[in-house]
Amino acid sequence: MNEPEDNLDRIIGAHWNLHILGAAVRLGIADHLAEGPRTVVDLAKAVGANSANAVGAFLSNAESFGLVRRVEGDRFAETPMLALLRRDGGAYRNIVSMLTGPGLCRPLEMLHRVVLRGRSHTEEALGQGLWSYYQDNPEEAASFADFMSELSGMVADSVLPRYSFSGRNKIIDVGGSNGTFLSRILMEYPDAAGVLFDLPNVIERARRNIAEQGLAARVEFVGGSFLEEVPEGGDIYLLKSVLSDWDDESCVRILSRCRDAAPPGTPVVVVDWLYHDDSKSLFDALDLRQLARVDGKVRTLPQYESLFESAALDLKRVDRPANGDAAGEWAPTTVFETIRR
Ligand SMILES: C[S@@+](CC[C@H](N)C(=O)[O-])C[C@H]1O[C@@H](n2cnc3c(N)ncnc32)[C@H](O)[C@@H]1O
Repeated sequence: MNEPEDNLDRIIGAHWNLHILGAAVRLGIADHLAEGPRTVVDLAKAVGANSANAVGAFLSNAESFGLVRRVEGDRFAETPMLALLRRDGGAYRNIVSMLTGPGLCRPLEMLHRVVLRGRSHTEEALGQGLWSYYQDNPEEAASFADFMSELSGMVADSVLPRYSFSGRNKIIDVGGSNGTFLSRILMEYPDAAGVLFDLPNVIERARRNIAEQGLAARVEFVGGSFLEEVPEGGDIYLLKSVLSDWDDESCVRILSRCRDAAPPGTPVVVVDWLYHDDSKSLFDALDLRQLARVDGKVRTLPQYESLFESAALDLKRVDRPANGDAAGEWAPTTVFETIRR
């Protein structure tokens, strides 16, 4: 076989395999095989399938790329790869579930339209924007939020040593999702309290997450839209991984709502991707995904400067992750400290 055909076959096969992974996660195959090998009929019963034939065909597909192992006849066992998709297996389960869910998949079905028009196809594909789709589809929303929590933990490892929250007693995390980033700050600064602000459906899940960490008494939960209003009176406002989800006009609106809520001299801190040429291919990939899914983008420094200027915020500091920073490779996140005039 010649190389271009091999490459195309590999890419086409990978597409199919990703959906096998998605089905494995939704059927809970990793958890069902955690205690040892099972027959196809037994597994079909465990997952509640109508037909053992379909389950057998599915397992055979999964076996073809090493997700499960046939031990004999129709008995299948887990592999180390499948074990990563267990309920307690870590980040991969969330990534697979999020990427194979209709919310993030369907807007990419007509990617050529995104390229032609330079804007997202999500409204046509889902009949609504992604955030409103997540309100109606709580399981997918939970996978997305859990994935963001994993990333936020890594970003906190990178940001906390280089940005001090000392003396900031009331920290407002705007669009704070599950509250993982805020929790990490509160654990490091025992005198600080936080306000977690996000859409009302997201806030309900965040309450449980924060309570599990024993921080419920130090966090106030506020549901609403940052396009309309943000809680007043914070000592610092955080916008982590929010601006890259929005077009310029919406970003200026979100920043302006933070500025309106913040007393003069208060920092409004943006923690987000900064486009730079030394990781061009990564940022180009992220940029197109953001455009396709939410009409967002990865901005250059002059583009951020223009947003801050339009929202009457003074940019004081830009802090990029150091080379070799683990989170810097996976989730390269820059801190922009602005001050409300
Ligand atoms: C990419 S996530 C980032 C979450 C969190 N800051 C983090 O880094 O893990 C964007 C967040 O913005 C929230 N969001 C979207 N639209 C919103 C709105 N109009 N008002 C408030 N929050 C919103 C989403 O629910 C989501 O939690």
